Amino acid sequence: MTERDLKDPTGKVVFRAVEYDGTRFPAIIFGNIANQLRELNGMTFKESDVFVVAYPKSGTHWCYEIVAMLRNNSSELTKQSPPLIDRLPIEKLRQVSDGVRVSHLLPRHMPRDSIERRCKIIHIYRNPKDVAVSYFNFLKKTKEGELIKDMEFDVFFQMFITDQLHRGSWIDYVKEWTDFKEENVKYPLLNICYENMKKDLRGHVKIIADFLELKPSEELMDEIAHKCEFQTMSAFKHNNIPESMCRITEVRDKHIMYRKGKAGDWKNWLTVAQSEALDERIQARNLHLEIHYS
Ligand code: A3P
Repeated sequence: MTERDLKDPTGKVVFRAVEYDGTRFPAIIFGNIANQLRELNGMTFKESDVFVVAYPKSGTHWCYEIVAMLRNNSSELTKQSPPLIDRLPIEKLRQVSDGVRVSHLLPRHMPRDSIERRCKIIHIYRNPKDVAVSYFNFLKKTKEGELIKDMEFDVFFQMFITDQLHRGSWIDYVKEWTDFKEENVKYPLLNICYENMKKDLRGHVKIIADFLELKPSEELMDEIAHKCEFQTMSAFKHNNIPESMCRITEVRDKHIMYRKGKAGDWKNWLTVAQSEALDERIQARNLHLEIHYS
C-alpha cells in the first residue's frame, strides 16, 4: 500500500490517495484500506445478506433505501448512513441487523465469504457524465475536497477522464463489475441503470423485490416508490442528517449526498468536446451498458 499526492495540471497537490492492489482509495476516508480488506476477508456472512455496490455518486444511497425497505417490509426512510463496508469498523458491520450493506469496492476486493456464499449483489451504475458533475459538487462540500474549493469543473473533469482522481477509474469500476457478471453468469447479481430507475421507479421496486425473492404487497411497493422519489427522499434526509456526516463535511444545514437527483444535468456542465472525449474512452473499452450517453 503506497500513499500518493495527486496533483492538478498546475502541479498543486489536490488529493491524497492510497494505492493498493491496482486501484486507488481516498486516504482521508479509507485510511488503512489494506487492513480493512484483510478484516473483511475474515468476516462471515449469511446467505441472505445483500450488498448494494456502486461507483460513488451513482445512486448508492437511493438503491440502499429501496433494498432496506423491501427487506424490512416497511416504507420508512432510514435516519442513519448506509453501512459502508469499505470503511466501517468490522464490529459495526457485524451488527447490521437487516443484512443490507453498501460498498464501493471492486469485485476482487469484496469479502471472500460473501462471494463464496453467493450473497445477492445489486450494482447500480449511472451515466459517468452525471457522475463527474455529482462528484465535483459533492467533493467541494467535503473535508476530503478541502484543496479543490477553487477548482474549475474543466480541471476536475480532465482529472476524472484521465484517472487522476483519488478514486479508481469509473470505467475500470463498471467494467470489472459487468465482467464479473459475464464470467459468473449464475452469480445472483443484478445490474441497475440509474437513468432507467429514474424513468420507472415503481417498476424498479418490483424488479428489486423479485431479485431479492420477496413478495411485498402492491401497496407497500407503491409506498416505497413514493418515499424514494427524489423530492420526498431528499426532504426527509435534509431534515434528518446523521451524526456520522460530521466526519465527512462541515455543512450542517443540508444533507450533501442529495443535490439534484436528475438524469442529464451534465448537459449544463460539459462541453461537446468533453462529452465526446468521454464517449471515445468508453467505446475504446467496449462497455455495454443501458446508458444513453448523449
Ligand atoms: P446528484 O449530485 O446528481 O444530485 P451516491 O448515493 O452514490 O453518493 O449518489 C448520489 C447521487 O444520487 C446524487 O446525485 C443524489 O442526489 C442522487 N440521489 C439520491 N437519492 C436519489 C433519489 N431518490 N432519486 C434520484 N437521485 C437520487
